[in-house]
Amino acid sequence: MFSGNFRHRMPTGSRRKVVIPPDFVDGTPERNDRSSFAGTRFSRIVWPPMRLLIAITGASGSVYAQRLLDQLDPATHEIHVMLSQYASQVIDAELEEGLKLRPGVMQHGFRSMNVPFASGSNPPDVMVVIPCSMGTMGRIAHGLSSDSLLRCADVMLKERRKLILVPRETPLSLVHVKNFELLLQAGAILLPANPHYYNRPTTVEAVADTVVARVLDHIGVRHTLTARWQEEPE
Ligand SMILES: Cc1cc2nc3c(=O)[nH]c(=O)nc-3n(C[C@H](O)[C@H](O)[C@H](O)COP(=O)(O)O)c2cc1C
Repeated sequence: MFSGNFRHRMPTGSRRKVVIPPDFVDGTPERNDRSSFAGTRFSRIVWPPMRLLIAITGASGSVYAQRLLDQLDPATHEIHVMLSQYASQVIDAELEEGLKLRPGVMQHGFRSMNVPFASGSNPPDVMVVIPCSMGTMGRIAHGLSSDSLLRCADVMLKERRKLILVPRETPLSLVHVKNFELLLQAGAILLPANPHYYNRPTTVEAVADTVVARVLDHIGVRHTLTARWQEEPE
């Protein structure tokens, strides 16, 4: 029933009485609308705010990063963004208006290690690399840590925090697949930018949202971005 991969997960299928602490209850309709549990006893839970690091690399698919950032509310979560060395070049080629960040989102350069997450003492709750190039994938898999983006990913793995990688490449070489294997063994979540079509998306954004919806599920952010299989669209 409760599919969100979330640190404060409720027991699945448990018959135990769930006590919702007062701090987690909020009567405002906007907050309740975020929950797909509207109308259930879970609908009044306010999902705790998270520190999120969204890293963007020079793989094709800047639209995935943009759509993800559009869904993350800086008034609810602490949101940090970091671009790799080649991310801007691909963003310029793919996003007509460039990358748009909502007010309150904090951006960091990849060159300085003076970012909070470069130390295991201060990791974010979740780091997403979206889209993730094969270059960055390989460097993370082999622990290069030669810039702050790579170091943050390294910190996430060593601190056993949630690292979600959204690779975009085709076809794959054995090198890529071996790196995937290493990263899975190290605890990363690999969520390839493979859209689905059973909701019959009709725009580029709607296609991208089929991937972004799964990323949000794995971060643990409630959303109604795409209809779920066998559910009526809202
Ligand atoms: C327009 C464009 C699209 C690219 N698409 C991809 C891609 O889909 N996947 C990939 O692994 N690399 C892709 N690349 C190559 C990467 O940008 C390149 O390997 C770069 O070194 C990655 O660096 P980064 O990981 O630091 O961002 C693309 C490059 C350009 C210019």
